[in-house]
Amino acid sequence: MSFGLGRGRTLDAAPGVVGLSSRDLPPLPDDFMANPGGSRLDPRPWFANPDLPFEVEIGSGKGTFLLQHGEAAPGINTLGIEWEGEFYAYAADRIRRRGLANARLLHGDAVDFLRWRVPDAIVRTIHLYFSDPWPKRKHHKNRVVQDRFLADAHRVLVPGGELRIVTDHEEYWAWMEEHFARWTAPMTGYDGPPFERLPFDRADSAAAGELVGTNFERKYRLEGRPFHAAILRKR
Ligand SMILES: C[S@@+](CC[C@H](N)C(=O)[O-])C[C@H]1O[C@@H](n2cnc3c(N)ncnc32)[C@H](O)[C@@H]1O
Repeated sequence: MSFGLGRGRTLDAAPGVVGLSSRDLPPLPDDFMANPGGSRLDPRPWFANPDLPFEVEIGSGKGTFLLQHGEAAPGINTLGIEWEGEFYAYAADRIRRRGLANARLLHGDAVDFLRWRVPDAIVRTIHLYFSDPWPKRKHHKNRVVQDRFLADAHRVLVPGGELRIVTDHEEYWAWMEEHFARWTAPMTGYDGPPFERLPFDRADSAAAGELVGTNFERKYRLEGRPFHAAILRKR
């Protein structure tokens, strides 16, 4: 199915420069279940200046946040991860045309990428905005926010690093709150709670009156929907 995002124009994701596909990554080693450390690869060298602080956006959609954040914060590298091919190509094409060196797009599953590929403690911020709510109970397993995801987010974040979340979806928010409560309470095997919960502060790249300024925020704001937002900071 095509969303017609190119409006007749061929989208150029600039493969190998702006856009990367998980299919081009080396295969997971045979023992990746027993030895997860062996499957890690460092995405920071994919950027022109690999030494900048590194952030990840999960589910970039049309790439509006990635673009705005990249322009507002030239001292930060951000990798957007989008699994829907046409959205990936559209967002990467926008980054290419804007000539941004500090924003890159990965075509693939962000949850898998964080779980198996991202090394420990390299990510300063994970952005998760208007994540698909998968409202039917039998599809809840597809939601990004799960205990396993929060464990992976905790592993890849630097100490003090943040998971930033905004949603419009009441029921998914209640689900998130249940998960946040577990991960902001003392946990066996960890010295105190793994995360500290903080109120959401709006993104520097957002326009006046916005929280983050993504496409979905803009669409839902016009409809007058209320939003929920939180920051979990790694302790
Ligand atoms: C509701 S849209 C929100 C897009 C954008 N964040 C915004 O606020 O406008 C959710 C996006 O996340 C993508 N997505 C959902 N789960 C994903 C995953 N596990 N890995 C990569 N992309 C994902 C979807 O394809 C979709 O583009």
